[in-house]
Amino acid sequence: MDEVEKAIRKIRNGVFVITFNLDGMNYGITTAWVNRAAFKPNMLMISVGKNRNGYEELLEAEVFCVNILGNEHLEIARHFGFTAGNNLNNFKDVELKEMENGSPVLENCVAAIECKLIKKVDAGDHVILFGEILNGVDLKGDAMVFNREDFS
Ligand SMILES: Cc1cc2nc3c(=O)[nH]c(=O)nc-3n(C[C@H](O)[C@H](O)[C@H](O)COP(=O)(O)O)c2cc1C
Repeated sequence: MDEVEKAIRKIRNGVFVITFNLDGMNYGITTAWVNRAAFKPNMLMISVGKNRNGYEELLEAEVFCVNILGNEHLEIARHFGFTAGNNLNNFKDVELKEMENGSPVLENCVAAIECKLIKKVDAGDHVILFGEILNGVDLKGDAMVFNREDFS
């Protein structure tokens, strides 16, 4: 691993599942590249690979939920992060509720923030999506810090 990559890997991230609904179908994508983007309007930004399964559907859905995971939610992170082409719509053993604006929200997360997609910025092989925050819920527990070894 080169020096630049080593340096980049010192940036700390949480672990999240982006959930959304399109045409009655629920989708989930594990992400680490999520951050607050602004106070006014209150905004988050997420970075999504252009070749991800569900990318086009996410753009079309326009409303999405950022589910913030805790350490006890590693299996859920893996579920929506690996073989996701198959798992994207697989909520079989995943308990769900609904946010105010219709996004599915994981029953098992430490907090959830529902956003409306307001801007899309090209970032090479990824796209940065800016979501204006519509509402949020703070559930019990601390957020997980992304640790590469948990996913290798
Ligand atoms: C811990 C973890 C973090 C991830 N972070 C991101 C991310 O920030 N953005 C992204 O586009 N994909 C991320 N991924 C990959 C997607 O979750 C995965 O590729 C996605 O579910 C789509 O599946 P596909 O690659 O089969 O299309 C992450 C995966 C894991 C396991």
